[in-house]
Amino acid sequence: MVMFTSVLAFATAALAQGITQANFTGMGTIDVWNSSDWREATTADKVGCLDTHGKFITPSNDSACAVFTRINTYPYTLSTTSGNCTFSDESQEINSDSIYGKSDHAWNCLKPFTADIYDELYTINGFPHVFLCQGDVDCYFDAKAIPARDATSNIWPFRWGSQQLGITPGHVMLLLVWNKVGDLPKREGVDEIPSPRVSLKVGEQVPLLGKKILS
Ligand SMILES: *[C@@H]1O[C@H](CO)[C@@H](O)[C@H](O)[C@H]1NC(C)=O
Ligand SMILES: *[C@@H]1O[C@H](CO)[C@@H](O)[C@H](O)[C@H]1NC(C)=O
Ligand SMILES: *[C@@H]1O[C@H](CO)[C@@H](O)[C@H](O)[C@H]1NC(C)=O
Ligand SMILES: *[C@@H]1O[C@H](CO)[C@@H](O)[C@H](O)[C@H]1NC(C)=O
Repeated sequence: MVMFTSVLAFATAALAQGITQANFTGMGTIDVWNSSDWREATTADKVGCLDTHGKFITPSNDSACAVFTRINTYPYTLSTTSGNCTFSDESQEINSDSIYGKSDHAWNCLKPFTADIYDELYTINGFPHVFLCQGDVDCYFDAKAIPARDATSNIWPFRWGSQQLGITPGHVMLLLVWNKVGDLPKREGVDEIPSPRVSLKVGEQVPLLGKKILS
């Protein structure tokens, strides 16, 4: 994948520990952690999960968290009982408070919708948890707020640049974390899911905020 050229400098180190691509396969729920630093984040930062529409919820227990399936063939995308999940559904709210996110549509799982490679989320070998990233090594997400118990919040990609160095003012910066609950029913003929050409060496301090947007 050509999108990773800017971080290839740290792609060569051998891994002594951390997750591998096999950790982000099969079926799982997606936890939401309130964190602006993957290096410091722990399970204590969990504030909720995603529902079948890919919206952020804060249920009293995990039974309301949707089970996502990652297909093990191209384009390796996620779906729920509501359909394929994407940031490209133009019916979804845009991140209008953000200087750099004004053209981003909220994540949504819908059908019919043919997922393509741009809808793929991926993880990085060496992470301490199965953090999900999208685009050009952007491993954070943006929501207006942590929703109340019976409400939902939209999730957008995290964006930054010289006019907005951190999270959108007033919003929360989040990590999405795969919590695998099972394998796909059919294990025959499983493709090896290709990993991004990037991995982390032990103690790696790269922030993984995605590329700075020039303006
Ligand atoms: C979320 O994180 C922010 C920034 O660290 C913090 O100010 C806020 O209190 C946290 N909220 C919850 C509910 O954990
Ligand atoms: C979990 O929450 C649901 C409502 O979302 C409730 O019906 C169920 O009883 C709860 N289960 C437990 C074990 O607390
Ligand atoms: C979801 O996307 C896959 C992969 O592109 C496609 O084969 C499938 O038909 C789509 N499913 C729905 C329900 O739109
Ligand atoms: C990753 O997968 C390995 C092998 O199945 C497992 O031992 C480990 O607990 C998984 N790590 C995470 C963070 O889920």
